[in-house]
Amino acid sequence: MKALILVGGFGTRLRPLTLSFPKPLVDFANKPMILHQIEALKDVGVTEVVLAINYRPEVMINFLKDFEDKLGITITCSQETEPLGTAGPLALARDKLLDGSGEPFFVLNSDVISEYPFAELIKFHKSHGGEATIMVTKVDEPSKYGVVVMEDTTGVVERFVEKPKVFVGNKINAGIYLLNPSVLDRIELKPTSIEKEVFPRIAADQKLYAMVLPGFWMDIGQPRDYITGLRLYLDSLRKRSADRLATGTHIVGNVLVHESAKIGEGCLIGPDVAIGPGCVVEDGVRLSRCTVMRGARIKKHACISNSIVGWHSTVGKWARIENMTILGEDVHVGDEVYSNGGVVLPHKEIKSSILKPEIVM
Ligand code: GDD
Ligand code: MG
Repeated sequence: MKALILVGGFGTRLRPLTLSFPKPLVDFANKPMILHQIEALKDVGVTEVVLAINYRPEVMINFLKDFEDKLGITITCSQETEPLGTAGPLALARDKLLDGSGEPFFVLNSDVISEYPFAELIKFHKSHGGEATIMVTKVDEPSKYGVVVMEDTTGVVERFVEKPKVFVGNKINAGIYLLNPSVLDRIELKPTSIEKEVFPRIAADQKLYAMVLPGFWMDIGQPRDYITGLRLYLDSLRKRSADRLATGTHIVGNVLVHESAKIGEGCLIGPDVAIGPGCVVEDGVRLSRCTVMRGARIKKHACISNSIVGWHSTVGKWARIENMTILGEDVHVGDEVYSNGGVVLPHKEIKSSILKPEIVM
């Protein structure tokens, strides 16, 4: 089977992290978001993943070459010269997706995290005889997603409304689809939205089906959701493979520490923390609900909560970093500095406190 991952878009809502890497390569739970997806696709027998790209393809391609061999899966790129939206890229990759087998193929948004119940999706898709299946999940705030109105017993989708202004329902498009090759005949090679132009039409023909996604789900394309997503991911990891989580008297709740990271004496870490490869956490540090990315150093007695520390950044002694502070790549926060929701662009040095949420250029 094949899969296409939509990796375009500029990831503006996840700046400043996406100033250094395209969104799919931003680390989540210690590895690039997209690797979580590629690994799960491989587990259900996908042999080729097509990346639909329109932004900095060279970075993606170089990075993923390493993983092709490691994972034993073919990763190819389908590069747009202009952004083709969420459906146009399928038309562009048509020849890659059609292999003559008639098999359905997966399409994924690159910024959604879940347990990826792909095996269940295949089973459901094969059972209903429709053209397309989308996974849906319930959320409290449906207006920022695509809302799906479905017949609960059969799964037939009655309506698909992208980002509705008025309430239509609370089941939303999870950005995980299994499509028959015939869907490609519905898409022209031009900027097209699968949500606004393709799904409503398949629904009108009563050939669009939805399946409620078992387990957790989150679109991690915004900092607050990224941090919530980490909590949900770690909860799920606790149930599936608790042995991958850190243990010890200095650990509270679910914490993921990369094997190459070093943790000092007298720290208190957790809940819901990910510490990436090569990080150094010095003595007496307090970390909760945060991500510390590859190569970062947290100096003695610093305290970080509800924040993201980007690659190779440092946080000074006794510094206090909180309330959705996002440090881009290679940011250096001085000793005793306080940050309340600072969003700091890459390669900056922060010498004085950031007292209210603001962007530091
Ligand atoms: N190749 C390519 N070209 N990819 C694109 C383009 C483009 O022009 N525009 C967006 N994408 C990719 C993004 O990288 C992302 O993986 C996916 O398409 C969806 O775009 P987002 O910008 O993340 O959309 P959203 O989060 O507002 O809404 C989408 O996701 C929700 C679930 O998270 C929609 O699919 C909603 O219906 C859905 O509920
Ligand atoms: Mg998104």
